[in-house]
Amino acid sequence: MNELQIVRCQDGSQTIYDHRLRESYHSLHGAREESLYVYIQNGLTKWWLKHGQQADSIRVFEVGFGTGLNVLLAEKWAAQMNVKIELVSVELWPLSLDLVTQLDWLAYGIETAQAQRLHQALPNVWVASSKHLSFYKIYADFTQEDLSEEFQNSFDVLFYDAFAPRKQPSIWQQAVLQKAFRLLRQGGLLSTYTAQGRFRRDLSAVGFEVEKLKGAVNKKEMTCAWRF
Ligand SMILES: C[S@@+](CC[C@H](N)C(=O)[O-])C[C@H]1O[C@@H](n2cnc3c(N)ncnc32)[C@H](O)[C@@H]1O
Repeated sequence: MNELQIVRCQDGSQTIYDHRLRESYHSLHGAREESLYVYIQNGLTKWWLKHGQQADSIRVFEVGFGTGLNVLLAEKWAAQMNVKIELVSVELWPLSLDLVTQLDWLAYGIETAQAQRLHQALPNVWVASSKHLSFYKIYADFTQEDLSEEFQNSFDVLFYDAFAPRKQPSIWQQAVLQKAFRLLRQGGLLSTYTAQGRFRRDLSAVGFEVEKLKGAVNKKEMTCAWRF
């Protein structure tokens, strides 16, 4: 059996299941709903409502590029809001173009060619994906990589979309959260689908102001954390 398999979620959208980790890239209850709720509604929109009036562009950092779904939904949002997003995404294990091409992008209102463009983009260079999105991909291990020189105090919104803490504890450790904190500007917002207690305590310990919100689809809670 292939380690990576495309699976259908309960909301009809698709995601990828990693048999090696026994973990899916999004909630099996609804990839589309989860991404829209956690990263677009409680990431981009939440930040925009607080600071958007002063901004003509938004800088976003993502931990875990994966299928590219969050990035593509962010691009759609930017087009609707008529703003520009500059988005940097870090990925340790890039998916093959072949697998990504097989996903049902049209179910998200996204052209397959748009997704392909992002996956084919060269790493470590800015690519103008569309009028509303400039994209910069980094192939690296976020737990090891030091991005502070290039990107310290740079981002307004941070999508923390790693595999779950019980599957991949290293990326949720306090020392790694400290890096995420430094990447954000003052007033920046981190959003993520988990509300694990240890993780929230570590966010507070590195200086975030933590908010617990109702979770996406089947999850009880999720987390937003501000850098003030
Ligand atoms: C939950 S999936 C992310 C889903 C993705 N945001 C999307 O929209 O499809 C987690 C992603 O984090 C990546 N990842 C895991 N460990 C990482 C690390 N140490 N550094 C960077 N990326 C990592 C995985 O390869 C995977 O693509």
